[in-house]
Amino acid sequence: MSLPAGIESSWLPVALSRQVRHRPLKRIVAGQPVVLWRADGKVNAFRDRCPHRNYPLSEGKVDGGRLVCPYHGWAFDAEGACRDVPGCVNADTSRLKAETVDVREAFGVVFVRLKPGEDDFDTALPPMPDTQDHHHFWWAIRPQAGRIYDALDNVLDPFHTNFIHDGYIRVKSRRQRVEQTLHIHEDRFEAVYVQDTDHGWMSRALEGPRARSTGTYYPPVAFQGRWEGPTGLTLCVTIWFVPEADRVMRPFARFSTPKNRGPAWLTEVLIRLFLFKVIEQDADALKKLRDNIETFGGPRFRAGPADRLSDKLMALYLGQSLTPETQGPFEIWL
Ligand code: FES
Ligand SMILES: [Fe+2]
Repeated sequence: MSLPAGIESSWLPVALSRQVRHRPLKRIVAGQPVVLWRADGKVNAFRDRCPHRNYPLSEGKVDGGRLVCPYHGWAFDAEGACRDVPGCVNADTSRLKAETVDVREAFGVVFVRLKPGEDDFDTALPPMPDTQDHHHFWWAIRPQAGRIYDALDNVLDPFHTNFIHDGYIRVKSRRQRVEQTLHIHEDRFEAVYVQDTDHGWMSRALEGPRARSTGTYYPPVAFQGRWEGPTGLTLCVTIWFVPEADRVMRPFARFSTPKNRGPAWLTEVLIRLFLFKVIEQDADALKKLRDNIETFGGPRFRAGPADRLSDKLMALYLGQSLTPETQGPFEIWL
């Protein structure tokens, strides 16, 4: 098992808007080098390979609205057309195109799609909380050693929180009764948890009373968690685990909090402060899973009595569809 089915056809966040400025920026997306560059305010994306002699275009520079290759100076416009071959006069450059990649800039982030297709961007992303009523910020987490599948499994799995995040989110020695209901759709599933606020100090400090929380998997690589109190949403987190290679990923997370919960800067500072440790704990676990899976020659999973999501995750990850139904409520203790 490697990258999820459909990864090349899906829109993936690869850089914050502010990271793409005057200099070209290189990204590896699902094993494929891409160069992002900006001209006249607009972001462009090419395969990071000059059509002439394969030099990485990301090592070039942007000059006069063109991306210039450092090897012989060929200059490409936003459509990838070669506009200049230094040293030649009246040359026909119509065949000399750089290979463009579909790109969109939205919500302060640059998204690319490796395989060209119809323009489905506006319907392709998970539903984002309304910007009128919410503050948002992005967290571009450093590239991590880990497998995409394990990262999705981790973020959907509440049972590890009592152990790996003991004291932060939940508490190992103090479990509470939780009602878990699964809503399964053809192309995604969500798990709804009805419970009181978790006992970990991060949950206590940040959240207030909880009515329920929901975790949804949007294939191939996105997860959205929503936490709701008695009067509505308290936090929404949408995470994309973007593969650089088979076993290395670059997570992008967008946090949304209702405006009535405090000023934007304060909620951002608090969330970053509290979540920093949690992200490190998961990153450490994911690296260990990856290394041990390699040591033992590939993944093997044994489903336990609480692993109700794993088969659904695996099916969607492999590009299969699910039979819509509701399962539960189940009683679990977290
Ligand atoms: S390799 Fe790019 S101009 Fe020659
Ligand atoms: Fe975790």
